Amino acid sequence: MARILTVDDEPVILNILNKILISNGYDVSPAKNGEEAMHLLEKETFDLLISDINMEPVNGMEVLRFAREKSPETQVIMLTAFGTVSTAVEAMKCGAYDYITKPFKLDELQITVQRALEYGNVLAENKGLKERLMATNRLDNIVSESDGMKQVCEMIERVAPTDTTVLIYGESGTGKELVARALHQYSNRKKEEFIAVNCAALPEPLLESEMFGHVKGAFTGATSNKEGLFESAHGGTLFLDEIGAMPLAIQSKLLRVLQDMQIRRVGGTQNVAVDVRLIAASNERLESLIEQGRFREDLFYRLSVITIDIPPLRERVTDILPLVQHFLKRRARPDQPTISIDHEAEIILERHPWPGNVRELENVIQHALAFAENNTITRSALPPKLVESVGEMPAGESGSHAAASSQAAKFKGKSLKAFLRSKEKEYLSNVMNNLNGDKEKAAQALDISVATLYRKLSDKS
Ligand SMILES: Nc1ncnc2c1ncn2[C@@H]1O[C@H](COP(=O)(O)OP(=O)(O)OP(=O)(O)O)[C@@H](O)[C@H]1O
Ligand SMILES: [Mg+2]
Repeated sequence: MARILTVDDEPVILNILNKILISNGYDVSPAKNGEEAMHLLEKETFDLLISDINMEPVNGMEVLRFAREKSPETQVIMLTAFGTVSTAVEAMKCGAYDYITKPFKLDELQITVQRALEYGNVLAENKGLKERLMATNRLDNIVSESDGMKQVCEMIERVAPTDTTVLIYGESGTGKELVARALHQYSNRKKEEFIAVNCAALPEPLLESEMFGHVKGAFTGATSNKEGLFESAHGGTLFLDEIGAMPLAIQSKLLRVLQDMQIRRVGGTQNVAVDVRLIAASNERLESLIEQGRFREDLFYRLSVITIDIPPLRERVTDILPLVQHFLKRRARPDQPTISIDHEAEIILERHPWPGNVRELENVIQHALAFAENNTITRSALPPKLVESVGEMPAGESGSHAAASSQAAKFKGKSLKAFLRSKEKEYLSNVMNNLNGDKEKAAQALDISVATLYRKLSDKS
C-alpha cells in the first residue's frame, strides 16, 4: 500500500484530502503544519508528499526542499490556492512532481496522485536496474571463471569500501596489481590517487626518500624539498609492491607511520598528518621472511588485517580460455576482423603450466596475434617452445582440467556399447576355444540359446 504524507494548515482541507485518499486505499499520515511534516519525513519513509504551499511559519516550499534532501525517493505534489500558480511552477523547478489548484476536483486529485506514485515506482525500478547492472559489470576487467578467482572478487567487493590494510599474495604475474587497483577503484578513495611503489626496485636510501620525501640538504644531492609518495597519495591509496624486499630500517619507519598516520620527511623536523590506505603485495610468504629475520612481525600484523590469496593460473585452468577471449577482445580494433582460436591451440594453452601466470598468457596471445593466419590462432601461431613443452608432457600428468579434456579426446568415438560388444566377443571366443568349438556346449555354459550364440558369433560390428 502506498504511503502518503499530507500537510495543510487548513484542517477542513486536510480532512477532505485524507478522506478521499483513504477511500482510494492509500495509507495516509496527516500533518497539521510544515514543522510536523518535516518531523514525520525525518522519522518515516513515504512514497508521496502532498503539501500546501501557503503555510505559517514553515511554508510548503521549505517542506519541499526538506523532503528532496532527506528523502529524494518521495514524490511531491503541491497544493496551491488559485492565483499562486507561479509559486507552484517554482516548486516544480525545485523537484515537485506536479501541483493541484484548490479547490481541487476529485478526479484531478486521483489521477495526479496515481501518476506521481507510478513515476516514483519507475524511478525506483530504474535505480534497482542500474545498481544490478553496476554489480554485474563491476569487476568486469578481472576474469574470474574459476572458484578461486570468484572468491578473490568477492573479497575485493567486500573490503574495497573499507579503509582496511590489505595484503595480497600471489606468484609473479597472477594479477596482484590488478587486484590492488580494483580495491582502490571500488573504494571511496577512487577520486584520489592510486600510487604504486616497488620496494624491490630501489636501494634503501632512495626508497626512504621516495616514500617519505626529504628536505633540502638532507643528503648530498637533496637540492630542494621533495614530497614523498605518502604525501602524494593523501586521501588515496598507496600500493607497496614486493613489500618483502623492504629493508628493515624502512619497515620500522613504515610501522611508525601506520601507528600514528604521520610522516616525517628525511632530514625534516616536522610531522605531517597523512590519510592513506595501504595495500601491500608479495610473492613470498611474509611468515617465512619473519622466520629468517628479514621481516618485522609487528609490521606483518599491521599489514595483514585482510589477506587476499591469488591462486597461480595452473590451479585455475577454467580461467585460461576466458582470459584468452578477454585478451583477444581487448586487442580487437573496430576496423579489423575478429580473431578466433582453434580447438587444438586451446588445448595446448590449457595444458601449459604457466609459470609466468596471467602475464605469460597475455604475452603468448600477443605473440599469437602476430602469427595468426586467416584470422585464426592455430598451433603454428603459438610460440614453438610452448607447443614443444606441452607436446612432451605426458597426458594426465598435469592432473588438471586440461589433462581431463585430453583424456576425453582419447575415448572419442568409443561408446560404452562398442566397448561391451568387443569384450563380449573376446569372452565368446575364449569360451569357444576352451570347448573346442562345440557351439551347443558353449551355449549351455553361457546360458543362451544356440541361435543367439550363432547370431553373436556372426555379428561383424
Ligand atoms: N584475472 C585477470 N583478468 C584479466 N586480466 C588479468 C587477470 N589477472 C591478471 N591480469 C593481467 O595480467 C597482467 C599481469 O597482472 P599484474 O601486473 O596485476 O600481476 P602481478 O601479480 O602484479 O605481477 P608481478 O608479480 O609480476 O608484479 C596484467 O596485464 C593484468 O591486467
Ligand atoms: Mg606487480
